[in-house]
Amino acid sequence: MTSYSLVDPPRGDDASREQKKSESSTGSSCRGCLKRWSLITLYVILTLLFLLFVVVPILWKTSYTMQRMFLFLNFVRYPYNVDLAKPSQAGIKGGMNFYIDTEDGARLGTWHILPQHLAEEGDKLSKLEKKDRFDEWVRNGDPVVLYMHGNSGTRAASHRVDLYKVFQKLNFHVVAVDYRTYADSIGEELSENTTVTDGKAVFKYFHQRVQNDRLFVWGHSLGTGVSSHFVSELEEEGILAAGLMLEAPFNNIRDEVREFPLTQMFRFLPYFDYCFLDSLADHGLYFASDKNLLKTTVPILILHAEDDKIIPLKLGKLLHEAVRKRGDKYISDMKTFPAKHHYGHKFICRAPELPELIENFKTASMNNFKNRIS
Ligand SMILES: *[C@@H]1O[C@H](CO)[C@@H](O)[C@H](O)[C@H]1NC(C)=O
Repeated sequence: MTSYSLVDPPRGDDASREQKKSESSTGSSCRGCLKRWSLITLYVILTLLFLLFVVVPILWKTSYTMQRMFLFLNFVRYPYNVDLAKPSQAGIKGGMNFYIDTEDGARLGTWHILPQHLAEEGDKLSKLEKKDRFDEWVRNGDPVVLYMHGNSGTRAASHRVDLYKVFQKLNFHVVAVDYRTYADSIGEELSENTTVTDGKAVFKYFHQRVQNDRLFVWGHSLGTGVSSHFVSELEEEGILAAGLMLEAPFNNIRDEVREFPLTQMFRFLPYFDYCFLDSLADHGLYFASDKNLLKTTVPILILHAEDDKIIPLKLGKLLHEAVRKRGDKYISDMKTFPAKHHYGHKFICRAPELPELIENFKTASMNNFKNRIS
């Protein structure tokens, strides 16, 4: 709709301006070229409209490559100036880089960041010593949080690092991972299923070393869809996460694509649902957290800013409504942040009350753990 109103008026103005100019200077001799220019302009506009409202929908409908590019944005690799082998370059103390292998042959770049009380000691170690000591330290009783990031960028992106630091100060071990094909992670076939495979691999790696009741998951944005999916699959296998924190989540990818600002200009098309929404499922893209989490007993904390422009608060609320259907027996909390703080889609990490929210959720989840296994 907007593109019609943006495109049409200038064409009229230009045409009349052109006309006046040509009449005053060269008179009627250039009537022909004026007509030709108007026709060319018309063709250009029609071609653009055709590309935008016919070719783009068909491409989206038929091409998984296009859906994958836009949804995952894995080719956007900011920040470009950080050597991922050195977490210290992102301003992190007590960090170690290593790689986790998945069953299907992917290799995931991972950071393990020590809790604050160990960070200084950790930084004194040589690279070789780190691997052993970090492994030993992760069993020391401090809680662990796995951070599953949203689309684009790497585990070194600054809004992510800011959140790692919040957890580090609360004496959590932080584990930050890049899904296959992001950053320095390698592997075949980026898809919803393979992000789930990656999440499970990382979870299991730490699950072998840490008590369940201390192993938490944090998802942000697209990562909320990934973590809800793999936490649910793990629970089916009898492996429980202690708690799941969802920052700026959506209920399912179909609703998210419908609400996303960039797709608004296509909404008037009678074939919008058919081309843009139905095709997600054709390519195995559901990220149906509203269904996946119903199958779980995991304590859930949803965090959403009112001024989130990428994933509207509405979708976070729909997810909250869905998980509350599990009943009062299970923790399903939601906290919204007023628009006046401008946290938007990425900066809930700046909320001064966040550490307390996390602490309370941690305690409630750990206390709740025994009820879930009995
Ligand atoms: C994803 O995994 C599910 C369950 O394992 C399977 O049924 C489905 O076919 C897979 N989808 C794709 C696109 O591979």
